[in-house]
This record gives sequence, structure tokens and C-alpha cells, in this order.
Amino acid sequence: ASTLGAAAAEKGRYFGTAVAANHLGESAYANTLNTEFNSVTPENEMKWDAVEPSRGSFSYGSADQIVNHAQSRGMKVRGHTLVWHSQLPSWVGSLATADLRSAMNNHITQVMTHWKGKIHSWDVVNEAFQDGSSGARRSSPFQDKLGNGFIEEAFRTARAADPAAKLCYNDYNTDGVNAKSNAVYNMVRDFKARGVPIDCVGFQSHFNSASPVPSDYQANLQRFADLGVDVQITELDIEGSGTAQANSYSNVVRACLAVSRCTGITVWGVTDKYSWRASGTPLLFDGNYAKKPAYTAVLTALGGS
Ligand code: G3I
Repeated sequence: ASTLGAAAAEKGRYFGTAVAANHLGESAYANTLNTEFNSVTPENEMKWDAVEPSRGSFSYGSADQIVNHAQSRGMKVRGHTLVWHSQLPSWVGSLATADLRSAMNNHITQVMTHWKGKIHSWDVVNEAFQDGSSGARRSSPFQDKLGNGFIEEAFRTARAADPAAKLCYNDYNTDGVNAKSNAVYNMVRDFKARGVPIDCVGFQSHFNSASPVPSDYQANLQRFADLGVDVQITELDIEGSGTAQANSYSNVVRACLAVSRCTGITVWGVTDKYSWRASGTPLLFDGNYAKKPAYTAVLTALGGS
């Protein structure tokens, strides 16, 4: 196979990218997307501030553009994200407990119902744990008012809304074995033991020189898989350039392929030009959509050429 998506498919995986609706009209962007990738994640368009900017008033237009683009070309769609402390409209944070609970459950139900049957995996809860050694939950309106049970409640509501979608917990700095990933691991183990519906864990995998691909990356993916969930690499990008960057990308792909329940990889953008890392070059295509050494390394690791 000569594209990322086709090579990944031969390994039983998807290879996706984050997509921004406002770039779909740029022909080089759309051509690269359409040629190389077989899954998309809306980069911002499904977040709470985008889809429910005021209470009970839903706007799906930009995300629909991405979903329609993907569906008409046979690409899968990852849903990102239902419950997150960031890109959360201020009205949510102002609600008292009972109202917040119903707003959270209504948001999940409405958004998942809108795209029911069209999303292969949803990030139901995103980034609910703190960085560092505490393993504690991060402060957010949900955590602070609803308590630890908000994650379980969100997953139960999500399962009822679209029973066919895989329900994921997604986070960063959980890519190796550390206090934060241990905390997520303990939560997933508890959910599986008590029958709380969870199907997958997303490892964002935003890497740079201060936070390189951990040496125990594969082992960490495997220990989660051994709990009985799929694992997905959901927001991969790696700062750097040239051979070093290519080798890091190759290591990530090989780790996923070595874990049978690692079902797919998503990079966090098509081109360096539009990366969220403003001055960085963390992706597979440069600002002119030329394939970088990292691209070739990924394709090779996937068994393509
Ligand atoms: O839409 C507004 C626009 O109206 C306004 O004029 C403009 C001015 O700044 O801002 C636009 O919103 C920006 C939005 O991206 C859409 O472009 C926000 O400022 C900007 O903060 C936002 O950044 C996104 C970031 O999440 C916000 O947290 C990045 O694009 C997106 O790549 C990034 O993605 C996150 C994942 O969702 C979760 N994991 C980490 C990852 C990287 O930070």
C-alpha cells in the first residue's frame, strides 16, 4: 500500500488526522486528507463551545461539514469531545449542581444522537486527571460540583445515547507508566470490574524534547489493553525534524502494531502549517504539503512503501 490509510488498513487499523472545517476548501489540504487518511477527528468543531454555545441551543454546522466530507469518501469519524473542562462555554460553569448534571447528560445525549451511527469512537471524557505525582482529579465544574462520579455518569449516558459507538476516556501525559496513567488505569480497572461502560482509552501522544516518546510506551498501551479495552493513539504529534522525528514516529507506530487491541492512530493535523503548536513542525507533511522523513517512516512502519 502506498498511503497511510491503506497501509494501516492492511494491518487492521485506521490512520486518521485531526481536521479543521475551515481548511477543507483549500485544495492541497483536502487532497492530502483524501489521499492519505481514512479517519478524521474534528479538531475543535465538536467541542462544547462549538456545538452548544448557549444552553439547549445546538449548532452542528461546522462539524457536519467534516462528518459529511468524511462519510462521502468512506472515512471514519472520531468524536472529540463531550465532557472537558476546556473550550467549555461559561454558562456551564455557572450552573448549580442539579442543573449541571442535567446539562451534562443532555449535552451528551443530544450531541451523540445527532451523529448516531456515524462516529466510530467518542472521547466521552477528556483530560479529567491532573498532571504530576498526585494522581488526583483535575478541578473542573464537573469534578467540583458532581464529584468523582461524573465520569461514570457520563459514560452511562453515552452508552444509552449511541450503543454502537466505542466510548473512550482520552488524556495526555498518560503515554508511559507514571502517576497520572496509573490513576487512569485504576479508574478503567474499576469501571471494568463494576460494569461501567467503557470501550477504549485514548493516548493523545503529544511529544516534544521535554516529553519524548516514553521507553515504556508499548508496555503502557499493553497494560491498558489487558484490562479489556481497546487503545487508540488519538492526537499524535512529535516536535522536531529529520531523522530523529522520523524515528520517534516509527517507534509509536510499531508500538501500536505490537498491541493487538491498538485499533488506530490519529495525528493531530494534516500539515505543519496549521498545527496547534504555532511555530512547530510536529506533523507528517510540511507547510507545503510535502512528505517529510516522518511520513516515510510511518508508511514504512505500517508495512507500506
Ligand atoms: O474560533 C475562534 C475564533 O472565532 C477566534 O477569532 C480565534 C482567535 O483566537 O480563536 C478561535 O478559537 C481557537 C480555536 O482553537 C479554533 O481555531 C482558540 O483560540 C484556540 O485556543 C483553539 O485551540 C485549540 C485547542 O485545542 C484549545 O484547547 C487547538 O486548535 C486544538 O488543536 C487543541 O486541541 C487539543 C485537544 O482538543 C485536546 N488535547 C490537547 C490538544 C492540543 O492542545
